[in-house]
Amino acid sequence: MQKRKLGNGGLEVSALGLGCMGLSFGYGPAVGRADGIALIRSAFEAGVTFFDTAECYGPFVNEELVGEAVAPFRDQIVIATKFGFQDGDSKNPSDCRPERIRAVAEASLKRLKTDRIDLFYQHRVDPNVPIEDVAGTVKDLIREGKVKHFGLSEAGAQTIRRAHAVQPVAALQSEYSLWWREPEQSVLPTLDELGIGFVPFSPLGKGFLTGAINPGTEFASNDFRNVVPRFSEANRKANAALVDLLGEIAAGNGVTRAQIALAWLLAQKPGIVPIPGTTKLHRLKENVGAAAVELSAGNLAAIESALQHVQIAGERYPAHMQQRIDR
Ligand SMILES: NC(=O)c1ccc[n+]([C@@H]2O[C@H](COP(=O)([O-])OP(=O)(O)OC[C@H]3O[C@@H](n4cnc5c(N)ncnc54)[C@H](OP(=O)(O)O)[C@@H]3O)[C@@H](O)[C@H]2O)c1
Repeated sequence: MQKRKLGNGGLEVSALGLGCMGLSFGYGPAVGRADGIALIRSAFEAGVTFFDTAECYGPFVNEELVGEAVAPFRDQIVIATKFGFQDGDSKNPSDCRPERIRAVAEASLKRLKTDRIDLFYQHRVDPNVPIEDVAGTVKDLIREGKVKHFGLSEAGAQTIRRAHAVQPVAALQSEYSLWWREPEQSVLPTLDELGIGFVPFSPLGKGFLTGAINPGTEFASNDFRNVVPRFSEANRKANAALVDLLGEIAAGNGVTRAQIALAWLLAQKPGIVPIPGTTKLHRLKENVGAAAVELSAGNLAAIESALQHVQIAGERYPAHMQQRIDR
């Protein structure tokens, strides 16, 4: 698979990474350990060199899974993980006090069975800790060799600038996809200006853009999508127009909807590296295949004009989670 650069500090990864969250957390029951390891190793065999995890996925168990899975090829890949919630639990408020960041780094290194975190993201901006203190703490960890690169997630343009002034930011990780394009307004121009890479999460719209979810789909009781307004039954019905549209474009190109969704992201800018997640081997292969799908200028213009006619219904997060987003 082709490689892409994230930021100006020498971080290079496969054009598509693997989002590992769903193997342990968020979308129903965790997969068995052996299956999770097999999936991650298959991704590496298919050319993926960028693996995304976080302290709070599980919590903790997803980092352990990733650490064990990548051990045989650790030096050939990039591990990204995240700090930032009280006690490592994403239901809790942010906790990005310097001492907490340092403690998370030590614990993550152990769980990941490694001596350095290649990319360490602040998961959400902490309203109680100045971003300069967060960036300064990660800068110290970089000086000590425990962390290689600094990242932010769902940070707004002003926060990105302030952080970057203290410690260059390699990548911002935020939601971006055919049905969530807010980053285009002020974040993407800021990243371009500062030379920071962009890692879109939920690039498949948490599965919706692939067509695999319909108004009748029932999620497991611990599936996060049960509380996402955009996934209410009524909104899934309303948003089916987008899935139909993507189906037409995909059929016209002889590819799948998931591949269109990923190829569209890859075509936006050279410094973009989406991290789709899946628990299934055949979908992993399908998603990796998107790296070879090149959308022509005509295709992109057709998608753009078709999207103008689609109204997306429902917020992407429930209100309590939306409040954590820094803008
Ligand atoms: N920074 C943050 O705050 C944040 C937030 C959310 C996620 N993330 C990261 O971003 C990664 C990806 O995001 P995400 O998992 O939320 O969403 P996503 O990649 O947009 O979608 C994942 C969902 O799509 C399904 N899927 C994947 N490929 C498919 C295909 N080809 N056809 C049909 N269905 C398919 C998966 O189900 P199956 O497993 O059944 O295939 C899963 O339910 C996560 O793993 C995590 O590492 C970060």
